[in-house]
Amino acid sequence: MNRPKVIVTRRWPQPVEARLKELFDVRLNTDDKPMTMDELQECLRTADAVLPTVTDPFNAEVLSAEPLRAKILGNFGVGYNHIDIQAAEARGLTVTNTPDVLTECTADLAMLLLLMTARRGGEGERHVRNGQWTGWRPTHMLGTKVTGKTLGLIGMGRIARAMAKKARHGFDMKILFTDPCPPPAELLRNLGAEPCGSVEEVLQRADFISLHCPGSQENYHLINRERLAMMKPGAFLINTARGDVVDNQALIAALKYRTVAGAGLDVFEGEPRLNPGFLELENVVLLPHLGSATAETRLAMGERVIENLKAFFAGQTPRDKVV
Ligand code: DGY
Repeated sequence: MNRPKVIVTRRWPQPVEARLKELFDVRLNTDDKPMTMDELQECLRTADAVLPTVTDPFNAEVLSAEPLRAKILGNFGVGYNHIDIQAAEARGLTVTNTPDVLTECTADLAMLLLLMTARRGGEGERHVRNGQWTGWRPTHMLGTKVTGKTLGLIGMGRIARAMAKKARHGFDMKILFTDPCPPPAELLRNLGAEPCGSVEEVLQRADFISLHCPGSQENYHLINRERLAMMKPGAFLINTARGDVVDNQALIAALKYRTVAGAGLDVFEGEPRLNPGFLELENVVLLPHLGSATAETRLAMGERVIENLKAFFAGQTPRDKVV
């Protein structure tokens, strides 16, 4: 029997590429160069399954490829805002993602950013590396205490809950959140998490705000100039969700004038390019979209895509079917 033809759009961890080769007729992207829109369309015309990731814009135009051979997009990643889901569905494509396996590592990275911004970790390292350190002194590089403070979560899905657990049980933080679909009451009790009626209420009450809502049209610039101005004096913003949930230009102004004390960012509008205004600021920690970037997690993400593909080609409903 002919094996399904599968195209992987970027390099994946070696063991999962090897497993894909055993199971399918695979074309890998050994150069790891992001594909152009034409190349993505060519994938849709020549493979039964395309395995994209966040750097591949499967918008309505790309998805209009003719003749369409692909039947499934097995996304490597939990977020799928780079795929026009309605257009994919209209073309009869199944779309899957990789939830669960990256939850803990992404929450760890959100905590890392929280600690780095509060305790001026990035700034301190630059200071040492630049040879500016003249020695310990009582007034040197004072940051903000984390333990016992209030963490406000915008979105209370898997990653937010994992972060709440670490913050609550590791740093004795009080947890506030807002989410249109809140978790069950018992789970909230275990986390000691208090629901708030609005994004604004969380912004007004928390010392640290961490964003955990999906990238989408509805959430585009959810954190805009007006909402940034509602944050408590001395409060910090952490973003490991998607860059365009925050109006980046407005955030740069807020950081510059210190209406927001600091920010820890793993995602950016238009990444990998970023607004050069960020580079002029000391009170922002900038990471290159590393949320799920551990060897263990990236392996597990690849395995999860394979599990979804195997189910699909066996005529079953993949575990992580989005549409
Ligand atoms: C995810 O899984 O959504 C990560 O942000 C990488 O896309």
